[in-house]
Amino acid sequence: MSGRVIMVSGPLVKADNMNNAMLYEVVKIGELGLTGEIIEYRDGVASIQVYEETSMLAVGQKVETTGELMCAYLAPGLLGGVFDGIERPLDKLYQNFGDFITRGASLDTLDTKKLWHFVPIKKVGDEVEFGDTIGYVMETKNFKHKILVPYNASGVITKIEEGNYTIVDNIVTLQSGNKKVNITMLQKWPVRTPRPYLKKYSPDTPMITGQRVIDTLFPIARGGVCAIPGPFGSGKTVVQHQLAKFSDADVIVYVGCGERGNEIIDVINEFSTLVDPKTKDKLMNRTVLVANTSNMPVSAREASLYTGITIAEYFRDMGYNVALMADSTSRYAEALREMSARLEEMPGEEGYPAYLSSRLASFYERAGVVDTLGQDKGSITIIGAVSPAGGDLSEPVSQATLRIVKVYFALSSSLAYSRHFPAIDWLTSYSMYADKLKNWYENNISADFIKYRSFLQKILQEESSLLEIVRLVGSDSLSSQDRLLLETGKIIREDFLYQNAFNDEDSYSTLQKQFKMVEVIYHYYTKLLDALKNGASVRDILSLNIKTKLQDMRYIEEGKLNKFDDLLLQIDDEVRAILDYDKDGEGDEGK
Ligand SMILES: Nc1ncnc2c1ncn2[C@@H]1O[C@H](COP(=O)(O)OP(=O)(O)OP(=O)(O)O)[C@@H](O)[C@H]1O
Ligand SMILES: [Mg+2]
Repeated sequence: MSGRVIMVSGPLVKADNMNNAMLYEVVKIGELGLTGEIIEYRDGVASIQVYEETSMLAVGQKVETTGELMCAYLAPGLLGGVFDGIERPLDKLYQNFGDFITRGASLDTLDTKKLWHFVPIKKVGDEVEFGDTIGYVMETKNFKHKILVPYNASGVITKIEEGNYTIVDNIVTLQSGNKKVNITMLQKWPVRTPRPYLKKYSPDTPMITGQRVIDTLFPIARGGVCAIPGPFGSGKTVVQHQLAKFSDADVIVYVGCGERGNEIIDVINEFSTLVDPKTKDKLMNRTVLVANTSNMPVSAREASLYTGITIAEYFRDMGYNVALMADSTSRYAEALREMSARLEEMPGEEGYPAYLSSRLASFYERAGVVDTLGQDKGSITIIGAVSPAGGDLSEPVSQATLRIVKVYFALSSSLAYSRHFPAIDWLTSYSMYADKLKNWYENNISADFIKYRSFLQKILQEESSLLEIVRLVGSDSLSSQDRLLLETGKIIREDFLYQNAFNDEDSYSTLQKQFKMVEVIYHYYTKLLDALKNGASVRDILSLNIKTKLQDMRYIEEGKLNKFDDLLLQIDDEVRAILDYDKDGEGDEGK
């Protein structure tokens, strides 16, 4: 059945004669067959969100329904892929159409010719249903891509054989009553519908990112939701890239939504050369990139987030830990606003539609730790950047996001301006997972982990109030203890929290190393505080040699963590030396 274009307004097209169309059905418009999705439907007139440039589209052109919802294509071959918002493979589009993607271009999302070696884990006679694993292919050297029974299929296996197959070949046949069902490795899933699972759990394991300020102070839990709001140039993208590189997830889905194209190129270039320390395989081989950059159609931003999260759910259903980064959700919200305005909906705050927060919530809600239908445990962690104009967090997208997420990294322009990176403000950021993860830290790192974290937070908070006093009345009024506290605060900020993303040694710290670093700082502070109480002079304790060693602590190699024990001993030695010296009756000036 075909309808007829009656109005074109940017990415919105209205068509009449669409009596049998479904809401969210995919349609093909005009001679070129541009892809669109019906987002509103009233009295035979469909409002269609078009995912491609609509110039030259004219009233009267035909609109064909496809009978399908907007679906993600899921099969081996996703990893390492770079797709646009509607999951067209960008590399193949480039090979076929050159620098400028021809409108209406359609290509298979995944390679349908490539052969994969399928290994069954079920046998003839086994009964299986939706979500069960029937076998796997090794998608990369290390990645076992499990093949799951697709939706709507269940029954007894009558044919299953190891061998080389394309993703569209029949690999398994099921007998269900008197019906035969053939299964291929390729599955489709409507992107707006969350994939089902058995049970959702409250997160209890941290996702280790190697970023000290995050792992030690504001941890992200596996299956958690996190937002990174920050003004222009404060380091949102760099943090997202760091997380994509280093977090200990099995699969990364990176959605570049309305941001600069060159940043996606950076990801591709870097990830193709960098090696995952865990698997020794290229980072790109555990990554799926969905790129809908600022120069691509605005309307496809929404699709890109949904496509990304559906791919993430697919890998979660295999029992993997998936992390999804979305940079930036504000650009998605802007696309919603534009569409809503064109649909002439009643505008809410700052012109955003009234359903902004429910849309954002339904996106973040797709995160979580779950029991999958196939009885595996998988998780999706979502980390969304938010770019409020002028850094003003009272705007609707930031507000709506903050109500949903449990971890919040407040990026501060003044920190970024003073080149303190990551510019995560330690006074205003928070993680609501910190307490829930307590047991994990105690069992896996040390019983002292929580004590040290509280120590860091206490020093940083007191430092901030002391600095306020210093600004008002100068440093003369400070006691020796206060001066030690300020010194320790500076060490925490400059030698622990500061982390250079572009230095190979510094870019990533294991949690063990982070713990050791804090242990040394804690030891430094408590020993020196004792020394002060025992009569040491503040001038002496603040000029210990150990300070230069603390500055280089971050460069201690992961394999040589026992060097931290030397630092602890050195602190003891130096403190003993000044106490002995002061006891001799000298060096007490400046007390
Ligand atoms: N961890 C870091 N280590 C070193 N430099 C950093 C770090 N984070 C950010 N920077 C510096 O800050 C610059 C801006 O960062 P980034 O592009 O991530 O900001 P942004 O918040 O994404 O900006 P926009 O709002 O424009 O997207 C980077 O190019 C880099 O020079
Ligand atoms: Mg950015």
